Amino acid sequence: YPLDLSVYKTITSTNTVLKEKAEQSAPHGTVLIATEQTLGRGRMGKKFYSPSNTGLYISILVRPDIPADQALFLTTSAAVATAKAIEDVSHKKADIKWVNDIYIEGKKVCGILTEAAFNIETSKLDYAIVGIGINVCPPEGGFPEDISEIATAIFEKSSDAVNKRSILVGHLLNYFMEYYESFDKRAYLDEYISRSMIIGQPISVLSNGTSRNALALEIDKECHLKVRYEDGSEEWLNSGEVSTKIQ
Ligand code: BTN
Repeated sequence: YPLDLSVYKTITSTNTVLKEKAEQSAPHGTVLIATEQTLGRGRMGKKFYSPSNTGLYISILVRPDIPADQALFLTTSAAVATAKAIEDVSHKKADIKWVNDIYIEGKKVCGILTEAAFNIETSKLDYAIVGIGINVCPPEGGFPEDISEIATAIFEKSSDAVNKRSILVGHLLNYFMEYYESFDKRAYLDEYISRSMIIGQPISVLSNGTSRNALALEIDKECHLKVRYEDGSEEWLNSGEVSTKIQ
């Protein structure tokens, strides 16, 4: 499968720059990789901490022929691909926290931000950018205070980061493209569900600035999450509307 890879030492945001390229008709399979971002973006308009040399910031441009409402599968298959690639290089178990964060031993090592452009006339995806940010080793001086309790890295030592970064990228892109090409079979779905760490756990559901305690019950084939609130009521959640926090 032909991929067009560009590697940057530093960039504003691989997602932002790839979006500009997509608008100028960059082809399917264009990939930007950076070792530092000055304006890294996370979900829900948050910043994504992207220090130099200790992380890996990757964006993949895809132009799938699928209805707009199936874009979520790009994100969840990227989560499985990344979890498997992390396990290959680190031999540590990588779990998925719905909908697309990757955790090792209860702490976050990776976040994914997928941004899609739709064609209004056909209701199909014009393109999507899947952006993956991985903490490969801890930054010098540790993680900033606001994330130090929740963030971790794949490796403890920075020498590992430099040596194993390229292997990690290779495995990740291979798995992602493998899933992409077998998109209809949803080969990754069982894997996604079996790696989901919040099933059976008490969580907080954050929606429109309010937070409710709930129990995570199950994930269906559309990657929606069923929860039960403390008053006994149940609801299927769609990742676009809410985020969850493990209590
Ligand atoms: C999150 O955890 O909220 C999602 C973080 C996504 C970060 C990646 S790093 C590569 C790409 N470029 C960005 O600016 N963001 C994504």
